[in-house]
Amino acid sequence: MSLAGTNLAILGLQWGDEGKGKVVDLLSPRFRHVVRFQGGNNAGHTVVVDGVSIALHQVPSGALHPGCFLVVGSGVVLNLEVFQQELDRLSARGFDLSDRLLLSEKAHIILPHHIALDQWREVRADKVGAKIGTTGRGIGPAYEMKAARMGIRLGDLRHPETLAERILPGYEEVRIRLGADAPLPSLEEVVAGLLRISAPFMRFIGDAQGHLQDAWGRGESILFEGAQATLLDIDHGTYPFVTSSNCSLGGLFTGTGLPPKAVDKVLGIAKAYTTRVGAGPFPAELLDATGERLRQVGREFGTTTGRPRRCGWFDAPITAHACRTNGVDGLAIMKLDVMDGMDEVGLIVGYRTGEGTLTTKLPSCAADWQDLRPEVRMFKGWDTTRGVTDPANLPTEARAYLDALMDSVQVPLTYLSTGPDRAEGYVVPGTVLEPLLGGLSG
Ligand code: IMP
Repeated sequence: MSLAGTNLAILGLQWGDEGKGKVVDLLSPRFRHVVRFQGGNNAGHTVVVDGVSIALHQVPSGALHPGCFLVVGSGVVLNLEVFQQELDRLSARGFDLSDRLLLSEKAHIILPHHIALDQWREVRADKVGAKIGTTGRGIGPAYEMKAARMGIRLGDLRHPETLAERILPGYEEVRIRLGADAPLPSLEEVVAGLLRISAPFMRFIGDAQGHLQDAWGRGESILFEGAQATLLDIDHGTYPFVTSSNCSLGGLFTGTGLPPKAVDKVLGIAKAYTTRVGAGPFPAELLDATGERLRQVGREFGTTTGRPRRCGWFDAPITAHACRTNGVDGLAIMKLDVMDGMDEVGLIVGYRTGEGTLTTKLPSCAADWQDLRPEVRMFKGWDTTRGVTDPANLPTEARAYLDALMDSVQVPLTYLSTGPDRAEGYVVPGTVLEPLLGGLSG
């Protein structure tokens, strides 16, 4: 089926790690361009080729499909050293990106002192109980430098003689904050290191905005791959326990330079339960054996940091908020099979306030989350959904749970994943995204 002219955004609807990688990997062969538009190497997904997994952090997921042209937009912050490692891993597996990769000249570079500042700040914050639990990759400081107009963009690498002067102000601020004894590389070392690691990338740096606008103009299909998720969005997430980019739909436009008209459909990805890594509000959290079971069976450990993820029931208010924020057309529900074999499963339908009122509205202030208690509706569990590829074969109990879940977020189910393999899952017939996703399963 031709998808010419159909551009799709894939966005996470919880706190990340929803399984976007599987969906992007499944859909990529149907698109000409696959685009990352925000985040950096805080993101991580594992793709499996011939039984061997490759962890990718910054390279768009379409890497494994030779027909996909990969674009990294201006909203991304890049660690070039890590990027090189990803390219090397791909190349060792026979995936050559040399003629199908473009990095925006406007994308910012993560520098060693950004990483040092991120880690230094987390250690200090921990002492006063205010740790965010960042991935420690320098993401926040890189975006701070961008906003403070002290950032270094990929295009700046074309003027190596200006780099020391450009890096100096941000470097000095970090040096002052961390103190003279901090184990930071010298400015000269930062510049020399940057020149060394960036040399192989020079041929990939260019006008990504123009490339995407031309591609859109020619009617070529574009898949936009979100990183992190709406509840980690710096504006619409659980601030301050968020990442430093706009992970929801708005970030796509600033992070590519394309207008809203360039996106035809939005596919939202959520897990059948909820997880979060790092600190911050999480009313759904199960601190008991049930939470531990979800973690073990779902292998809920961070791809980037290996940290155990906090686990809990599906939280309808946060997911509905994410659906509204992004104008989601259809939902992909992932990892339903992880809940197989449980006696009962829960769905958070709202929160009780301190006064006992039931609400589905999310507080804007972190402090207000503390008073909220989840209102959980319990459902009878089911035997197995593993590998189901036909809705008719879903156990009645799983169907009842899914129906209630859809009802609570008011968005139709478009794709259900029932296992890690490509073939495990199905596209829901008759849904708005079927023309785009039809034939995806099996
Ligand atoms: P940062 O993005 O490293 O600054 O981390 C800020 C918050 O976002 C922390 O709670 C991280 O655990 C979380 N975070 C960042 N990237 C991801 C991701 O890809 N998946 C899940 N959580 C993430």
